[in-house]
Amino acid sequence: MRIDIITVSPDLIKSPFEHSIIKRAIDKELVEIHFHNLRDYAVNKYGKIDDSPYGGESGMVMMIEPIDKCISKLKLERNYDEVIYMTPDAEMLNQQTANTLSLKENIIILCGHYKGIDHRVRDLLVTKEISIGDYVLSGGELAAAVLSDSIIRLIPGVLGDETSALSDSFQDGLLAPPVYTRPSEYNGLKVPAILLSGNFPKIEEWRTEKAIERTKNIRPDLLKKSEK
Ligand code: ADE
Repeated sequence: MRIDIITVSPDLIKSPFEHSIIKRAIDKELVEIHFHNLRDYAVNKYGKIDDSPYGGESGMVMMIEPIDKCISKLKLERNYDEVIYMTPDAEMLNQQTANTLSLKENIIILCGHYKGIDHRVRDLLVTKEISIGDYVLSGGELAAAVLSDSIIRLIPGVLGDETSALSDSFQDGLLAPPVYTRPSEYNGLKVPAILLSGNFPKIEEWRTEKAIERTKNIRPDLLKKSEK
């Protein structure tokens, strides 16, 4: 899989890709990440990529021309399955979307800034818009890193233990059950006895029970969704 990230702040977004699971996925060549500085496609020699909005609102809006030039150049080199725009006024990211995107070959992620982007970019160039939550970040970079991480860990071979992504929270529509490790007792706090029993069918039953209980308590909306 290849992810091309278009941004005005490449330095802001590089670091999450330089550590841990994501770095290993890149080193193993399971995913390629390419960063593109939008200022390289600026409309003048001063690096202009934004302008004031028509209609007299405050703030600056990212211009269509640099974005179009950058995306067009990439599209000359390969086909893209999706051009994704990170923005708070969009559908919310969930595990289902991450699963679907992890099966794609090539995607572009466009990070927004300022007051947004010229809406013609969204109408003509963008194929999918994703928000990571009902709050506004200073730019789309951190959101793009979140989206990329959620996708990359699902690519086959990225996680050492192939089953561990399957047992993530949300994969079965539920929050994950609690997990414990050594010691079996700490300051009088005991690990549930069932987990030490070696009775694996019973342990599975306990895990499902706990997953449902936690989902009911913390995210009842998820249970309502799965009932629909
Ligand atoms: N850009 C700014 N805020 C955002 C959000 N919540 N999700 C995605 N992109 C964003």
